[in-house]
Amino acid sequence: MVARCLSVLLCVLGAGLALTAAAQQTGVDLAKARNCLSCHQVDKKVVGPAFTVIAQRFAGSEAAADYLAQAIRDGGRGRWGPVPMPAQPQVSPADAKLLAAWILSLAEPTTAEPQAKE
Ligand code: HEC
Repeated sequence: MVARCLSVLLCVLGAGLALTAAAQQTGVDLAKARNCLSCHQVDKKVVGPAFTVIAQRFAGSEAAADYLAQAIRDGGRGRWGPVPMPAQPQVSPADAKLLAAWILSLAEPTTAEPQAKE
């Protein structure tokens, strides 16, 4: 009972943040299930750029979520290096949006103080 109250409280507190810890886990699971992690890792370059680095490049851009959702399904080349990303037609538009939102959430500072915005 106490644990349940506590988790509800934490959820309420977390609602102000972009994504809760549970949503972070969902993002990783989805990326795993859609085979993204065979080329990407969250914080390390493999075949493709690290998701945290992608998130930093697009941080603060309002159109980024839509753009990245499209980029995930279409693939592309020449934005990060010589290696192209193949199109991912098995990813539904809805899943692509979730993945894009999750990737963008990785740019949020977790320990550092938020930077002052102009
Ligand atoms: C076969 C390897 C491969 C797979 C599988 C793959 N990617 Fe990529 N991804 C890449 C490479 C390589 C790039 C860099 C392409 C470039 O330079 O334009 C990239 C780029 C990206 C970008 C940045 C796009 C941009 O416009 O800057 C995102 C976001 C991304 N991938 C997400 C995903 C997601 C989500 C999945 C799973 C559905 C996925 N990728 C699956 C190799 C892959």
